[in-house]
Amino acid sequence: MFRHSPVGGEVTEGTPLRRQKQSPGAHGWVISLGESRPGQPLYLRIVQAICEDIRRGRLRAGDPLPGSRSLARLLRLNRNTVVAAYDELVAEGWLVADRASRTRVSSGIPEVMLSPTPSVSGRLSPDRAAMSSEPADSLLNLSRADPDAATLPALALARAYRHSLLEASEDALRYGDPRGRPELRQAIADYLRVTRGVLCGTRQVMITRGSQMAFALLGELLPTGRRIAIEWLGYPPAWNALSRCGGELVPVPIDDAGMRVERLEDFHRERAIHAIYVTPHHQYPTTVTMSAGRRLELLDFAARTGAMVIEDDYDHEFAFGGRPVLPLASHPGGAEIAYVGTLSKVFAPGPRIGYLVADSARIDELARRRAIIDASGDPAIELAVAELFTSGEIRRHLYRARKVYAKRRERLVEEVGRRLAASVDYRVPLGGTALWLRARDGIDVDAWAESSAQRGIWFATGRRYAFGAQSYPGIRLNFASLSEMQIQDGVFAMAKALAQAP
Ligand SMILES: Cc1ncc(COP(=O)(O)O)c(C=O)c1O
Repeated sequence: MFRHSPVGGEVTEGTPLRRQKQSPGAHGWVISLGESRPGQPLYLRIVQAICEDIRRGRLRAGDPLPGSRSLARLLRLNRNTVVAAYDELVAEGWLVADRASRTRVSSGIPEVMLSPTPSVSGRLSPDRAAMSSEPADSLLNLSRADPDAATLPALALARAYRHSLLEASEDALRYGDPRGRPELRQAIADYLRVTRGVLCGTRQVMITRGSQMAFALLGELLPTGRRIAIEWLGYPPAWNALSRCGGELVPVPIDDAGMRVERLEDFHRERAIHAIYVTPHHQYPTTVTMSAGRRLELLDFAARTGAMVIEDDYDHEFAFGGRPVLPLASHPGGAEIAYVGTLSKVFAPGPRIGYLVADSARIDELARRRAIIDASGDPAIELAVAELFTSGEIRRHLYRARKVYAKRRERLVEEVGRRLAASVDYRVPLGGTALWLRARDGIDVDAWAESSAQRGIWFATGRRYAFGAQSYPGIRLNFASLSEMQIQDGVFAMAKALAQAP
């Protein structure tokens, strides 16, 4: 699977590509070059980008491509490179040259070479997963999920890491416990008890490499024949991990109270549901908080049926309008809950620190599975992060970050209200680091995104979060890593791009 970067930003240096005009092909199509690989000829990157767009349906049978001269100019390449790519695609049958010497997408491409049409339920192949395309570095990313690296207590982390390597523990560099360093497990247990009412001890906590590893391990409990309910819209990386051993994903509709549990009951009546993956605190990507009624219904469903609830609480720390809602895991009743959290938003995604809270027998079972591929995580960094918890550094960092993010959030809401209110509906969520916009009827968000990319900005549309990557009229804007100026410029560019979208 290769990633896309709209308008091939990596190819050029000097004049930003985004200021240049491409004479667009079909429906304003803009080429998205994948990442360059060592030794890969340039013309092959163009070949792959066009094939991928045909497969994904961005280019359809009969669509014209830009002339080789104008594409070469746009990409700042020698025209012969583009001609070589077009020749290759014609030879392989992807493109045809018509009588007027225009190059078009062939109408004879066999169905099997195209992406399957989205289904309502079934296995999601990782290649088809949304979220595979990332914007080029040259574009301002308005949907970047990372926290702001500038607010990070990097010096404190460096000191703690030095301490853990040199002084704190002789065995920081030895094999450790696949459940993670006890110091960090204890620190997380304390943190969850104090901040979220999740009552657990060290034995119920496992440190994972990001939430992603927790989902992948839980996926091992859900082999072929098991059914996993997910939110439609949702978070495809978790879907891929949870279903990687053959479990069947069952998308359940959501509304402004979260997952529609009555639909979950319907699906269960058809065939048993074994696990439910949810983001109740701030539904991902719509930011909706699951209502109290739905929470109770969901817990009741899980307790009655024995289905495991996999609760992904990825951004609990960021509440701006009063107290955050407590997790399902703080009042499980008879339901089995695997509670998954991460430091990717609190801190940074790079160190890959996530955690899983579950029954201690489950934790031991998952730790045995984890040890097969990853003996013990990274004891030294885990020790360092534990020190940041116990010294109060994380608490102080969060206090500072919240203040910065609150201002950015305010700014984003203000700018969207000023420039986009006629085109989108939105609700300002009580927390989290994103705003979800729903485009009004008649607005094609994907076309809007493409015309925005030509103005140098990128944002994620509903398609990225939809099961089967169907088009959906939503946009997720993340504000944590953007300066107020970037927010202002970004929303301004979005409004301009919308005015000119095809
Ligand atoms: C819904 C959701 N869950 C979890 C995560 C965190 O993933 P990880 O801990 O693997 O970095 C993210 C990060 O963007 C997310 O959006």
